[in-house]
Amino acid sequence: TSTPATVTVTGAAGSIGYASLFRIAAGAMLGHDRPVRLRLLELPQAVAAAEGTAMELEDGAFPLLESVDIFDDARAAFDGTDFALLIGARPRTKGMERADLLAANSAIFAGQGSILNEVAADDLRVIVVGNPANTNAAVAAASAPDIPAERFTALTRLDHNRAIAQLARRTGTPVGRISRVSIWGNHSATQYPDIFHAIVGDTPGAEIAADQTWLVDDFIPTVAKRGTAIIEARGASSAASAANATIDHVHDWVLGTPAGDWTSVAMPSNGAYGIPEGLVCSVPARSVDGRWEVVEGLAINEFSRGRIDASVAELRSELDAVSALTVS
Ligand code: NAI
Repeated sequence: TSTPATVTVTGAAGSIGYASLFRIAAGAMLGHDRPVRLRLLELPQAVAAAEGTAMELEDGAFPLLESVDIFDDARAAFDGTDFALLIGARPRTKGMERADLLAANSAIFAGQGSILNEVAADDLRVIVVGNPANTNAAVAAASAPDIPAERFTALTRLDHNRAIAQLARRTGTPVGRISRVSIWGNHSATQYPDIFHAIVGDTPGAEIAADQTWLVDDFIPTVAKRGTAIIEARGASSAASAANATIDHVHDWVLGTPAGDWTSVAMPSNGAYGIPEGLVCSVPARSVDGRWEVVEGLAINEFSRGRIDASVAELRSELDAVSALTVS
């Protein structure tokens, strides 16, 4: 379609924002025939930096880029928006307790959810990248009663892509021949990258998973702790790969997942696989006519069940902690 899309990016002057905007402007997210109107939302102290990024976007002379506007007011930034990429969040600073982090972010995401509820376009789609991403998405969805909950998602595509990359490295299979990998649970160290249903070249993933030592001691922790390994190596957290995954997520949501494959999306649970409703939990999903659908009916073995349950329990405790804050 050539209808212009309005895309609001929060935290636009941050690292992931910077790594996302130029590819969005180039058509990588919504297709190379869809004009884009970019809106950058930042905190007041980062507006000047966002203005610098906007100058560079202008200098890209992107044929699809219709406009770039900068805001420090969420209501104006989300007015009529079709896509909200919620990247900006309160980072954990020295001495900050987990409860403080949850409280600061739940205030941000509750506020943004209720503003989206009032002013966004009817076809709004939301992806939360800012951590704790799953719980932030759950809070935003709960604050937007008029928007179908399924429009609120959180990013676990980076974990999904990392799992594919590790499988490719282990087996020497090109990434393009690896499909049906699943990330379950939270975007955190408890996430469960599941290869039991994967297809790796001509080999069933279950055959590769049969090497339990590699699965438990190498593959799962390498994927789950990849973010930390990147911080240690580059002295800064994943930015370009996170931006890439964000673009992949929205791209597939709008334009569809490849035939025969699926991806991983953190989305409000519909109760499938025994995941309680209200949690935003990563599951294997396909995009059908612009809507995410859980891939249902996969046989879950005992090993996978234990891992999924542990991550779901963590999501439950995060959301309970946030609810307790809201009530008190
Ligand atoms: P960054 O610190 O470089 O940029 C964040 C930007 O957000 C800053 O410019 C800040 O001014 C802005 N910001 C903060 N609160 C805001 C608000 N209420 N409204 C608008 N803007 C706001 O951080 P970076 O590296 O870009 O990461 C952003 C977030 O993404 C972090 O929370 C990080 O933990 C998370 N992340 C999530 C991943 C995932 O896979 N789900 C992967 C990597 C990072």
